[in-house]
Amino acid sequence: MAWSPWDWRERPVEQQPQWPDPGELEAVEKELSGYPPLVVTSEIRDLQQALATAASGGAFLLQAGDCAESFLDHSAASVRNKLQVILQMAVVLMYSSGVPIIKVGRIAGQFAKPRSSSTETIGDRTLPSFRGHIVHSDIPDPIARIPDPKRLLHAYHQSAATIALLKSLTQGGFADLSQVHTWNQEFVSASSQGKRYETIATEIERALQFMAACGIDLSRERSLSQVGFWTSHEALLLGYEAALTRRDPRDGRWYDQSAHMVWIGERTRQLHGGHLRFAEGIANPIGCKVGPTMTTSELVELCDRLDPTATPGRLTLVSRMGAERVRDRLPELIAAVKASGHPVVWACDPMHGNTFTSSSGLKTRRFDEILAELKAFFQVHRDLGTWAGGIHIELTGDDVTECLGGSDEVLEETLNTSYNTICDPRLNAQQSLDLAYRVAELLITP
Ligand code: PEP
Ligand code: CO
Repeated sequence: MAWSPWDWRERPVEQQPQWPDPGELEAVEKELSGYPPLVVTSEIRDLQQALATAASGGAFLLQAGDCAESFLDHSAASVRNKLQVILQMAVVLMYSSGVPIIKVGRIAGQFAKPRSSSTETIGDRTLPSFRGHIVHSDIPDPIARIPDPKRLLHAYHQSAATIALLKSLTQGGFADLSQVHTWNQEFVSASSQGKRYETIATEIERALQFMAACGIDLSRERSLSQVGFWTSHEALLLGYEAALTRRDPRDGRWYDQSAHMVWIGERTRQLHGGHLRFAEGIANPIGCKVGPTMTTSELVELCDRLDPTATPGRLTLVSRMGAERVRDRLPELIAAVKASGHPVVWACDPMHGNTFTSSSGLKTRRFDEILAELKAFFQVHRDLGTWAGGIHIELTGDDVTECLGGSDEVLEETLNTSYNTICDPRLNAQQSLDLAYRVAELLITP
């Protein structure tokens, strides 16, 4: 059946804001349709190729960044800190997995949020739920929560600026392997778990010395000083996505050029819904969240729809079961997908199935439960002989107190010290690196 970027409008579409003036929204979408794409198709195809390698066990996906990017926190430092922590994690994971790490940010477009309930109560006020800065303000006030289409344009421009900064940082020496390794050594020496992580850090140091001894000039080797870094977000606001979807005259295919990769969330993955309809027509690599209610037949049908040609790496399935449910739910899903012949990447999001509200009323997650979900995910894949192809993490490079635990333990009493997220709780820089070293241990000595 012929596909167009806008035919999702003929399907039921979940989780869209109630725009007060559809005419104004349409005008904004039209304006966006005339803007330059945010990413180019050749880079999208490069990511597709990299993920094809991950699907067959030759690479590992690290997808990480904010739950929801903020219009009010768009400093160079916040982008740089996030990139830094992702690069640091990637070096640790690369050493321990022995394969290239595909670095994909939840960044430069991760603005729209699905919500379980259409209203939320803050203090004594019941308000429309916060759906991200691309829709409205997070201020708990009914007027501030009215959706404003002009915010789509703000999201576009903020994404463009973020991509420009990421490009110059990743191509301009910031991502140099020796530099990233030095940051990791600093982390290890400052960490209360330093002794535990020292073995891995020392081994990486020896590997670098070995390369230098072989005559490889680490600072001049382009493959070590420049890294590939891709962008991604949830394809939730379909008008925004469709407005940035263009046909590439070279291959005649449609690409959503708002990001290299987009994913479908747990709340919008209905087989006959608009989100799947949109995703099936674009040539980008697609992610789809897989929660505990997913059945095997539903998952196989979803794979048939999103990956009809069984293309390696076209589809990344992001398991988000909750630590308790992985061993019970995941094996049959992996087995069914394997039997169906779809060469997918299996990644684990250990964040969204482990969220709870603390006694102080703040949404949080425990580091140990996040790690437990990852551990179970790796174990299930090992038992089945399949490749655990990646992890999907909500983090920030800043020193926040949003998730509990970690080696410099964040406690329930101190959660509100630096609780800055506008949506879900993120791992701070230290907890993110803790996690990378703990995952490295799992990969080296299962
Ligand atoms: C998210 O990734 O921020 C999210 C909302 O996840 P999920 O769709 O898995 O709940
Ligand atoms: Co989230």
